[in-house]
Amino acid sequence: MERTFAIIKPDAVERNVTGKVLAMIEAGGFKIVGMKKILLSRAQVEGFYYVHKERPFFGDLCTFMSRGPVIALVLEKENAIADWRGLMGATNPANAEAGTIRKELGVSIEENTVHGSDSPESASYEIPYFFNQLELV
Ligand code: CMP
Repeated sequence: MERTFAIIKPDAVERNVTGKVLAMIEAGGFKIVGMKKILLSRAQVEGFYYVHKERPFFGDLCTFMSRGPVIALVLEKENAIADWRGLMGATNPANAEAGTIRKELGVSIEENTVHGSDSPESASYEIPYFFNQLELV
């Protein structure tokens, strides 16, 4: 079994589609082993996305991700990291395949509804950024 980290981003929480995303996650065969709603400070977002700090979109991304609550999740299944990236679809919803979360619900390349770890190394950083062991069940 593998675990990955996911976020339902502010655009989705604002539009009341949290439940739709969770339904797609469960239909995709993932077990939700951790879940919390949290309003991130800008500094917390900057720490979470530090790998992108030199990118031109970093400032806007941090503004967006701290403008409202998010749902942080730890998902478990075999091949969870790759399978979650597959279910999310391409970063830009315009390029995402039909049936993916970003195609169905994404707004733009920034407001793309969901985040997922891109590697085991990322998951190892991102999961404990939000959850302690006692919160993963
Ligand atoms: P995510 O998978 O959370 O990882 C980094 C985020 O930065 C990404 O989703 C998008 O929300 C955002 N992002 C990536 N590329 C761009 C871009 N070219 N312009 C604006 N935002 C971007």
